[in-house]
Amino acid sequence: MRGALAILFSLCASVVLAQEFTTLKGHGGPIMGVAVSQQGQVATASFDNSVGLWTGRDPLWLEGHEAAVTAVRFLPDGTPISAGDDFSVRLWGNAPRELGRHKGKVTSLALSPDGRHVASGSWDGSIRLWPLDDGAQSQMPDPGAGVNTLAYDSKGRLYAGTTKGVLLRYDSDTSSPFVMVNHGFGINVLTLGNGWVAYGAVDGGTRVVDSETGAQIADFTLDRRPILSMTHHPKTGQIAVGDGQGYIMMLDAQTWSITRDFRATRRGPVWALAFSPDGQLIYAGGLDDVVYAWPVSMLDTFEPGIDGDRSFLRDAASMPNGERQFMRKCSICHALTAGPSRKAGPNLHGLFGRRAGTVAEYSYSATLQSSDIVWDEVTVNALFDEGPDHYIPGSKMPMQVIRKQTDRADLIAFLKQATGED
Ligand code: HEC
Repeated sequence: MRGALAILFSLCASVVLAQEFTTLKGHGGPIMGVAVSQQGQVATASFDNSVGLWTGRDPLWLEGHEAAVTAVRFLPDGTPISAGDDFSVRLWGNAPRELGRHKGKVTSLALSPDGRHVASGSWDGSIRLWPLDDGAQSQMPDPGAGVNTLAYDSKGRLYAGTTKGVLLRYDSDTSSPFVMVNHGFGINVLTLGNGWVAYGAVDGGTRVVDSETGAQIADFTLDRRPILSMTHHPKTGQIAVGDGQGYIMMLDAQTWSITRDFRATRRGPVWALAFSPDGQLIYAGGLDDVVYAWPVSMLDTFEPGIDGDRSFLRDAASMPNGERQFMRKCSICHALTAGPSRKAGPNLHGLFGRRAGTVAEYSYSATLQSSDIVWDEVTVNALFDEGPDHYIPGSKMPMQVIRKQTDRADLIAFLKQATGED
């Protein structure tokens, strides 16, 4: 009897699974941010420099950022805004434009409840306000450290979590902030509800404090760290918390209890979380190029979906050194085989003998496009002996030096073989 019930249950589960478990595929790199609009549209921010705007499972790629996109939000009318490692904040929709720039990586975005501006926080230690109407651009008083996370409450007060572990509340745009918590470890994420603020930190701290006084209401700190993502669904009172060890913990903001604890990935972080408008689905992203959406009520019945099976996580010990160099240091940004790639860097297929900056569908920096380098054993060796920032100053390739001559030689031997294969 019990066996029959179990079979029946698993049949039901697989029917629901087919209906509700969704994956959004197409990005060429890890997923750093996800947002769901009031209308139910999903936007994703990726390491591949693009924002994906999904209608069902079909993506529209919003291109314009020059480095990884780390944050994405929707305006109430469904227009996405995004920010990233290229220091810029961009508005999409019918008339896409750059709202402005920081002097460092942008980590977070928040929309003021009156809809008049977007706040962005950056590791440059500033919080800037970008007007969505014809108002003037401005800056909040100094938060005293790099900013990791921002959120507004319904009264228009802005909360910020900093790299120095301070949780701040700005009661106005001009007065200095009130220190709510001085945590000692960087505060990565925060979310808030009626009368409370929840935050997650580098050391795994996951706490809820009173939004007026900063007094602690609840502590959900487990032995997992760092806390990397957090989102709240006001109508159902659910809070989802994602961490560096691949778990999604669900909290109930009415009873302040843990309702579910789900292993979403076998390896690697949960960087991005968002609820569907009705709170029934939780969207999550991480190291994989895929966004997963699980029905919350059935979380415990699923195997980890983000399986961490990216090629660079394959058992390194079993790989020859050249392949290992590539998998660890290059594969996150470069494809090797012919065909379209959505990775952040150009496809390396056919690299040897090719002039720099000539993959037709790739949008290079002006520097690489006008370069007269031809890629061969000598130039690829020089690229990583000196580092791209010295060998081709002004290119958008990240700084990276491979110090050991044998590692460079092994990498080049691997590349010669792997970029020539069809
Ligand atoms: C974080 C992403 C990233 C990583 C990691 C990375 N690259 Fe790149 N790479 C880029 C980008 C972006 C460009 C294009 C630069 C430009 O347009 O200025 C590029 C360009 C190149 C080019 C020039 C290609 C052409 O068509 O001209 C080569 C060669 C290259 N990378 C090799 C490598 C190798 C080998 C590694 C690993 C040791 C590596 N890259 C690691 C992002 C990356």
